[in-house]
Amino acid sequence: MSEPVLEIEDVDAGFGASQILFGINLAVAQGEIAGVLGLNGAGKSVTMKVIAGLIPAWKGAVRLNGRDITGLAPEQRVGLGLGHVPQGRQVFPELTVEENLRLGAYTLRRRDKSRYAPSLAATWERFPKLYERRRQAAGTMSGGEQAALAVARALINEPTVVLVDEPSAGLAPLIVRDVFDTLKQVATTGVTMILVEQNVAAALQLVDTVTLLQTGTVAWHGPLAELDRSMLATRLGIGRMLGPSTAAAANKRAVKKKAVPEKKPAAKKAAPAKKVAAKKTVPQKAAATKKAAPRKRAT
Ligand SMILES: Nc1ncnc2c1ncn2[C@@H]1O[C@H](COP(=O)(O)OP(=O)(O)OP(=O)(O)O)[C@@H](O)[C@H]1O
Ligand SMILES: [Mg+2]
Repeated sequence: MSEPVLEIEDVDAGFGASQILFGINLAVAQGEIAGVLGLNGAGKSVTMKVIAGLIPAWKGAVRLNGRDITGLAPEQRVGLGLGHVPQGRQVFPELTVEENLRLGAYTLRRRDKSRYAPSLAATWERFPKLYERRRQAAGTMSGGEQAALAVARALINEPTVVLVDEPSAGLAPLIVRDVFDTLKQVATTGVTMILVEQNVAAALQLVDTVTLLQTGTVAWHGPLAELDRSMLATRLGIGRMLGPSTAAAANKRAVKKKAVPEKKPAAKKAAPAKKVAAKKTVPQKAAATKKAAPRKRAT
C-alpha cells in the first residue's frame, strides 16, 4: 500500500483497570473505505474514539498523513482533517439543523472564518433535504435526517479522513440505502473513511477492506476480495444473512447496484456450502490471522 493516510499501530486502550483494546493495528490508504466489523462490545467504538482522541491510547501510535497525533486533543485532530460521526449521531436535539452545523464547524471557523460560508453552501448542495429543514430543531427530524445531519456536521470541516460509527443503526432499509449512497458519494470525492457497521451486508457493498475485531483484537484484516464470508458469518454469528457472494458484492460496487431481488436466491444457494466451508476455512483463517498480526506490526 502507498503511505497510509491513517495508521493505528499496536494500540492498547481501556478504562481504569479494564483493558479493552489489545495491540490494534490498522492502516487505511487514501480514498479507501475501511470497514470495521465485530460483535457488540468488540471495541469498535473505542477504537474510533482512540483515533478521534476522545479516549487516550495506553500504548501504540495513531498517525494521520504520517504525522503522530497520538497525544493531540480531539479538536486539534479535527483541525488536521479528521472527522467523526459518532455512534448514536449525537446531534444537539434542541438546536436547529443550521446551528448544529455551525457548532460542528467550530474548528473550521476558528481556523479560517472565510471558509465557513462556502463550506456551508457546499453542505446544502450535497444535502438539499437538510437545507429545507435548516430552521428545524434537529431532535424533531427523522432518524434518517439526523443521520444525514451527523454526516454533514463532520464533513463541514472538510476532513480528509472520516470515522463513521454505525450510521445505519435504527434506520429503515430504504433510508439505510440513502445514507450509504451519501457515504459512497463522499468516498468518491477522495475522502478516506473508516466505517463501523452492524449491517454487514450493506457494509460489504461499500468497503474496500475489512477489519474484524474480536474482544479488542484484530481477528482478521484484508481486502474485501480476500474476505471469506463463511468465516465472517461464523465469527459474527449471522449465518446466512450475508447475502450475495463477495465477488457479486464487489461487482455491485463497481457497476451500479439495482438488482436487489438477486440477493435471495444467491443467499439460499450459498447457505449449505457455507456450513461445509466454515469448518474448513475458519481454522485456516484464524491461524493465518494469528500469524499475520505480528508481521503487520513489523512493517
Ligand atoms: N466509557 C466507558 N467506560 C467503561 N467501559 C467502557 C466505556 N465505553 C466502552 N466500554 C466498554 O468497552 C467495550 C467495548 O465497547 P465499544 O463501545 O467499543 O463496543 P462496540 O464494538 O462499539 O459495540 P457496539 O456494536 O455495541 O457499539 C465494552 O465492553 C464496553 O462496555
Ligand atoms: Mg459501538
